[in-house]
Amino acid sequence: MNPLVLGSNPSGPTILASQRRCIDRRSLRHATRYPLLDCHAGLQVDKNVKGLPELFSNNRRWAATMESRQPGFFSGLTAQQAPRYLWIGCSDSRVPANEIVGLAPGELFVHRNVANLVLHTDFSCLSVLQYAIDVLKVEHVMVVGHYGCGGVQAAWEERQLGLVDNWLQSVRDVAHLYRDPLRQLADDSARLDRLCELNVLVQARRLCRSTVVQQAWDRGQHLVVHAWVYRLTDGLLRDLGFCAASLVTAEEHYARAAGFGTIGTGDAGTCG
Ligand code: CO
Repeated sequence: MNPLVLGSNPSGPTILASQRRCIDRRSLRHATRYPLLDCHAGLQVDKNVKGLPELFSNNRRWAATMESRQPGFFSGLTAQQAPRYLWIGCSDSRVPANEIVGLAPGELFVHRNVANLVLHTDFSCLSVLQYAIDVLKVEHVMVVGHYGCGGVQAAWEERQLGLVDNWLQSVRDVAHLYRDPLRQLADDSARLDRLCELNVLVQARRLCRSTVVQQAWDRGQHLVVHAWVYRLTDGLLRDLGFCAASLVTAEEHYARAAGFGTIGTGDAGTCG
């Protein structure tokens, strides 16, 4: 309970003077213990902490531009969100989901993590997936990797970065699984590109095997899972030829797309 809100609410319960003093003492104790939380109340301000005013300035400019382009834009968004797509991509700052596919706020539901992984024990990813499919009724889920992915590269080179090494173990497993075909490629650059593609395909296939997607398909819900890869150097997306609307097509497309060779060259695959 926030004592300041309680005390300033004219329609709230009556507060006796003794209770008021008690609340004030508690507020003071709280402010002493958590100075940063109360910096706006003027009790204690850390002079070294800056509020990033340039970002707020950018934000005000962006909000004004959006509203001038489309009056009522934000009030319309508040009323509902009905995205048709769920994007599962890498956290990399160079891969901004909405911008890449030219979608506005409200049109793309997004989950991002290091190396765009879909793990059956990751409740964050599973919760996003379940909410997007069961509640928002998205029609397409795309797992989107990118060439030049630092996470995939670290896993390939077995570099030690700390806690994140545990997260990236799944990419190491992919590299191990496809060790022989990867070795046959011309150079390390080609191997890394191919590992980025294989990693996306493995995640897309795993997504199809999740209980959430299985149950959606079992009840006849229209849902297509895609595997794409993005190239940082030209800003273009490639379809990896994995486009599944059932577990059968998922297995077929995985077997074909994960075959030997770099395949991320086309613009759009055919859906099965
Ligand atoms: Co990445």
